[in-house]
Amino acid sequence: MATQDQLVIVLDFGAQYGQLIARRVRDLHVYSEIMPCDAPAEEIAAKHPDAIILSGGPASVYADDAPDMDARVFELGVPILGFCYGQQIMAVKLGGKVSHTEVGEYGHADLTRAGDSRLLAGTPESQVVWMSHRDAVSELPAGFSVTSRTDVCPVASMECAERNLYATQFHPEVRHTAYGKDILSNFLFTICGLKPTWTMDNVIDQKVAEIREKVGGEKVILALSGGVDSAVTAALVHRAIGDQLTCVFVNHGLLRKGEPESVERVFTQQFNIPLVHVHAEDRYARLLAGTTDPEQKRRRIGGEFWKVFFEEAQKLDGVKYLAQGTIYPDIIESGARKTSGKASTIKSHHNLIPFPEGVHFDLIEPLDHFFKDEVRALGTALGLPDEIVYRQPFPGPGLAIRIIGEVTPEKLGILREADAIVREELDAYNAELFERTGERNSAHSCWQYFAVLPDIKSVGVMGDERTYQRPIIVRAVESSDAMTADWAKLPYDVLARISGRIVAEVPGVNRVAYDITSKPPATIEWE
Ligand code: XMP
Repeated sequence: MATQDQLVIVLDFGAQYGQLIARRVRDLHVYSEIMPCDAPAEEIAAKHPDAIILSGGPASVYADDAPDMDARVFELGVPILGFCYGQQIMAVKLGGKVSHTEVGEYGHADLTRAGDSRLLAGTPESQVVWMSHRDAVSELPAGFSVTSRTDVCPVASMECAERNLYATQFHPEVRHTAYGKDILSNFLFTICGLKPTWTMDNVIDQKVAEIREKVGGEKVILALSGGVDSAVTAALVHRAIGDQLTCVFVNHGLLRKGEPESVERVFTQQFNIPLVHVHAEDRYARLLAGTTDPEQKRRRIGGEFWKVFFEEAQKLDGVKYLAQGTIYPDIIESGARKTSGKASTIKSHHNLIPFPEGVHFDLIEPLDHFFKDEVRALGTALGLPDEIVYRQPFPGPGLAIRIIGEVTPEKLGILREADAIVREELDAYNAELFERTGERNSAHSCWQYFAVLPDIKSVGVMGDERTYQRPIIVRAVESSDAMTADWAKLPYDVLARISGRIVAEVPGVNRVAYDITSKPPATIEWE
């Protein structure tokens, strides 16, 4: 993409180490992009990078299928910094040697500096770093000197200042490395002479200019889902081209209480964006009638979405572009999936949109190089409210996969009310933690929380009458990426309030249970 003034390229040697490094560079307000480790030197040079970082990776440099790189990258005259595998491959490509260490080094290690170092300048003689390796450099390439060591690792960092080549066996990008940020800053600002100019305001100006140039006087449509990615895309594209953008909001009737109203209010009243609100609730209700299998629900809901969307899109005249909220991890991951493990062929997944026969729109994906937290920061800078920017993850199939068994209007009504209570109470719990810790995602804040309606009834007693009604299951998890999750150890008084309110306020519910299973072995959702 990008007509960035400054660019740091991270060559990714696998297992998404590159993503973390790119994020750390961006945290320091310098733009960075990830490229596959084996990108040819010409391709890298064509992007005119100001610096290159070689990431870590899980392999051993001497393994048969070890990720490789083009050695001519070292001849480009661009400053290069390698971490872990990045240090080892730098050593090997430049004539040094790497060997097995007698014992591996995993986790915290005590590092001692040795001699002058531009990279470690200003950091203490002894410091704690984070290591994860079995192999280490055993023979330096010509022109390099050792700049630090640990008891296990004789070359914990090395550099050749004349050629502007630097490397560490440890991981400066990991928070446990006490001076990791200073080390990265030394590289970017002192060694490479870069400036911390990549700020959200500059990014917005630049993106707005790019969108205007690409779109010209043409019209654009966008499918709003209520989620943060499509909302930020809408706000950004609207900032660039105003009323040339029309948003289509397909209301499948499976959203949470208050969400359709919130989307409509924010986009029509606050942003004044032309919005087509498609009421597809009945259509979805018919589609889901009798469907009990979770995957069949997903397929039906997903397939119908694009059908409804394109029916509306075709009613609008002369639209050339479809704006999508694709974000950087979608691109990196769809690239990674096409190869075996390493994030090679980084390609967009354009072909996933099921354009109907004879229908085509060109795509614009202005967030395709942003990480999720950057998308949120962009949203805030564009004036979107916290209720959208910090919306917790919500599955595309919506409440349908939180109703076990058949979805009916009666069950949807019960779940929606119970879910609103869970969210209200846990929003307040999170807000209180945020206030106390100053961190939006502090260790014990809930990451995702909701109600589930199982397909059973149980006996209860209310007043002097027996009841035979539905239970609600409360699910609340702590997580950072949904890959793993811990059930949230909520205080009893919070649980008691949720339970008390649900049975008192939601007709048809006489019992509340709390799901105390982590992922794995359970999943976050029940279907
Ligand atoms: P699980 O249940 O697999 O969920 O632990 C992990 C995360 O993914 C979300 N999720 C979905 N998101 N379509 C989506 O867009 C889906 O079909 C879907 N299923 C699960 C879930 O909410 C959690 O954040």
